[in-house]
Amino acid sequence: MAITIRPLSDEQRKPIPQELGFGGVFSDHMFTQEYRDGAWHDATIGAYGPFTIDPSCAVLHYAQEIFEGLKAYRRPDGNINLFRPWDNAKRFTRSALRMAMAPVDEDMFLESIRELIKLDHRWVPSEAGASYYIRPSLIATQNALGVMPSNRYLHFLIGGPVGPYFKGGFNPVGVYISDTYRRAVKGGVGDAKTGGNYAASLFVGQEASDKGYSQVLWLDAIEGRYVEEVGAMNIMFVYGNKIITPKLTGSILPGITRYSVIELAADLGYDISEQQIDVNDVLADIQSGAITEVFGCGTAAVIAPVGKFGMGDQEYLINNNQTGPVAERIYKELTGIQYGHIEDRFGWTETIEVS
Ligand code: PLP
Ligand code: COI
Repeated sequence: MAITIRPLSDEQRKPIPQELGFGGVFSDHMFTQEYRDGAWHDATIGAYGPFTIDPSCAVLHYAQEIFEGLKAYRRPDGNINLFRPWDNAKRFTRSALRMAMAPVDEDMFLESIRELIKLDHRWVPSEAGASYYIRPSLIATQNALGVMPSNRYLHFLIGGPVGPYFKGGFNPVGVYISDTYRRAVKGGVGDAKTGGNYAASLFVGQEASDKGYSQVLWLDAIEGRYVEEVGAMNIMFVYGNKIITPKLTGSILPGITRYSVIELAADLGYDISEQQIDVNDVLADIQSGAITEVFGCGTAAVIAPVGKFGMGDQEYLINNNQTGPVAERIYKELTGIQYGHIEDRFGWTETIEVS
């Protein structure tokens, strides 16, 4: 598997900003390869920068595109961990097939990440809670306005250093439950990581933000009653020692953090199960105090305690808008494994030697 590597000279490399937000800063290099004539060509890592596409390019019109999100974490010994990257590779394949796109060879998906990290390892931050966010993407590049699967694709990979996804860091967020709009329906593309799912959420996200909430919780599209997921994370409800999370229905993104929390929580002695969850039960159980905590989980969001839900004009405070002990413990265990502070007893990490 050959990736041509064209490194920048030391003088061409950029300074690394001190202040880290989320998703606005990118490292020196990027990976690209092109699918044409039925095969992948020109796998290259070179300077990060714009590429040109024709105005008739298919992705610009019919949104035939997918992406992934994973992180590289600086270990105490200076080396770098990837977290379950092979699961991102598998999801990238599943998303590609659902969107009628040419899938990327999973070994190449993984190799492109390893090589980019090796070349740009100085961009992987060492500050607590910071990491290097990796964004593999696949776009349809045929120049044609007919509605059909493209015969050309561009697979590219960019990344950069990030701090917390939410401005408040590891602190409770407010989540707005939309009783009007839906994200995805069974049989649709909700379980594929494709940009249209996110574009469709922006309008409601804006409404939530205007009301003072940072994310939207989506209900199922058929009955408008069962909890699905939150804008950029899956969701878990804590009843003392018991944790429940919506089972996968085909319209929920199967989060890699979600799978990890399910395994980790069971290992830590929690009684965790996947089930159908009625929003009316959730709201009643918050009011009665039966629900002791709620938290979201995702690559960008990590573990995000939910301090309040809003629905209509009603507000539902959870654990007095404080981070609870279960979210705290799962956060510490998960990030401990990701950053290599505690032993990876699950075989989730791959270490890239750079020091
Ligand atoms: N659900 C949605 C809609 C997401 O965008 C994400 C983030 O990727 C998740 C769930 C969590 O998935 P993962 O844990 O694989 O990052
Ligand atoms: C992620 O957690 O990696 C995501 O993709 C969420 C969001 C930034 C879209």
